[in-house]
Amino acid sequence: MSQTNNNGHEKIEKNVGLMAVLIAVVISFGGLAEIVPLMFQAEAVEPAPGIEPYPPLELAGRDVYVREGCYNCHSQMIRTLRFETERYGHYSLAGESVYDRPFQWGSKRTGPDLARVGGRYSDDWHEVHLMNPRDVVPQSNMPSYPWLAQAGLDAEGVTRRMQVLRKLGDPYSDEDIAGVAAALEGKTEMDAVIAYLQGLGRHAPRPGQVVDAGAAP
Ligand code: HEC
Repeated sequence: MSQTNNNGHEKIEKNVGLMAVLIAVVISFGGLAEIVPLMFQAEAVEPAPGIEPYPPLELAGRDVYVREGCYNCHSQMIRTLRFETERYGHYSLAGESVYDRPFQWGSKRTGPDLARVGGRYSDDWHEVHLMNPRDVVPQSNMPSYPWLAQAGLDAEGVTRRMQVLRKLGDPYSDEDIAGVAAALEGKTEMDAVIAYLQGLGRHAPRPGQVVDAGAAP
């Protein structure tokens, strides 16, 4: 069968390069329409009430968490499903993660979600658990992290990180940055990661609370 109206469509179909470019253009319009408005939506870019940049010890602990790959087994994202909110607490809000670079939401849960773990256990429980999880949860398959108790913290590195985060818009004051060395004095990576864990979900809305996530704090 012969095609008589040669209207340009045929030209595109017969030219793989042109076709690929045009497909990329069409797909990127779809992406832009979904992603760009989110970048300006207060709910997604403004901190939720009470959410503040990480203090030095928690910031150092967060880096340990990322370095050790805790996110490979733990999410920090409670979904809006009843069995999740009943187990973990109020579902996660975008405004809780504005100071997380990169965010630790994840979807892999070999262990439980940690978005609201702060305050659930004592510092001592966390230390015993991180030294050897089987001492407190006999059936646990979480690895032990005994070296964290030996490793010191790099105050200079944390200071530089806070300066960079300030350039990216995190509201750290000069005093916050000047106080890093004092805040990390004598602390180990174990102390840091426990401080980080205890801070998770500290300002979470309570279950059932109605949240206007877009409101200024
Ligand atoms: C191989 C997977 C795996 C990795 C990696 C892992 N965990 Fe776990 N984690 C688990 C499992 C499974 C549990 C549940 C059993 C238990 O409590 O030990 C758990 C439990 C926990 C709990 C208790 C949560 C609760 O609500 O009871 C905390 C806190 C925790 N992990 C922190 C960490 C931290 C911090 C790291 C990184 C230093 C880490 N985990 C790395 C698998 C893992």
